[in-house]
Amino acid sequence: MQIRVQKTTHSRLGSVDFSDLPFGKIKSDHMFVVDYSNGQWHDARIVPFEDLMLSPANSALHYGQAIFEGMKAQVDEQGTALIFRPDQNIKRLNLSADRMCMPNLPEDLFLKGLKQLIQLDIDWIPSGEGKSLYIRPFMFATDDSVGVKVSESYMFIIFTSPVSPYYSKPLKIKVADKYVRAFDGGVGSAKAAGNYGASMLPTKEAYAQGYHQVMWMDGHEFKYVEETGTTNVFFVIGDKILTPALDGNILDGVTRKSCIALLKEEGATVEEKRVDINEIIEAYKNGELKDAFCTGTAASVVHIELFNYKGQDIVLPPVAERKWSNFLHNKLDAIKGGKSSDTHDWIVEVVNENIGVSA
Ligand SMILES: Cc1ncc(COP(=O)(O)O)c(C=O)c1O
Repeated sequence: MQIRVQKTTHSRLGSVDFSDLPFGKIKSDHMFVVDYSNGQWHDARIVPFEDLMLSPANSALHYGQAIFEGMKAQVDEQGTALIFRPDQNIKRLNLSADRMCMPNLPEDLFLKGLKQLIQLDIDWIPSGEGKSLYIRPFMFATDDSVGVKVSESYMFIIFTSPVSPYYSKPLKIKVADKYVRAFDGGVGSAKAAGNYGASMLPTKEAYAQGYHQVMWMDGHEFKYVEETGTTNVFFVIGDKILTPALDGNILDGVTRKSCIALLKEEGATVEEKRVDINEIIEAYKNGELKDAFCTGTAASVVHIELFNYKGQDIVLPPVAERKWSNFLHNKLDAIKGGKSSDTHDWIVEVVNENIGVSA
């Protein structure tokens, strides 16, 4: 499919203070848009970032057929834009689409539009410690009639945003004991907008008590750890690294799977299994709990300072002593920024994208 390109005549780049990048607030000049109707994707285009016109009867607003992804790009020392594992994001977007009864987007169209967009807005990629261009692909229903049914039309968009790290310090986390994020047979493994809407109240309550995030537990017994609201989680007990297995209720995180690969390569023992919170508490009491950390695209690898379980604070060792989370943080950052060789083929370099002419 051809991608039509309309460049902005009023770039906002000059007005951005790149030393102050509150997460997600600033949007780059262009966006990639594709429409779906009559059973096919059509009218792929890169256009100036602008507001959308939607019917008040827009079915995504009423019935929630809306899914999204999150990725990041950086520039290397030669000025080439590098995107981290976008193939994984389009695969996951399409899995989310399947679960939400939405159409799949062709992977090659996604990658082509993404690369052209990044090339066009390459000057929006910030450099400096922890900074990157956050990439937000999303798809939503666009039928304009009420009545609960599968929409027949959709819009897919990618826009980007220069950002600083999502979390600026180690996290204080509240272990869920009342609310549930996902349940067997539900949509927990989909990156569906509604999952995040449902997490707002519990997160707000945790925030009011001094925590940054909720650690979600299984919905049967509140016994098995799942993930946080924006990340997967890992624990280090003695010389073993544990992370909850993909059970259909948690997101198959791109950062999670990258961390597992890097850890195994370093000879670490990683167990993907049901992680019983009692095992963690026991290890804490025995002095065996060495580390706990969160992984995600927006967050990167972020230390957990403490988590609160049934009123008890489980306080983790000082950050300087955390061997594995520090290793992962540094290693992933180096790979993403092109400072460490990409032995896994995780990086997509944006070179010679044909912009301005339909290709
Ligand atoms: C609920 C949830 N879990 C885990 C993750 C981490 O996934 P990834 O590493 O692909 O960003 C995210 C972030 O997208 C998330 O929102």
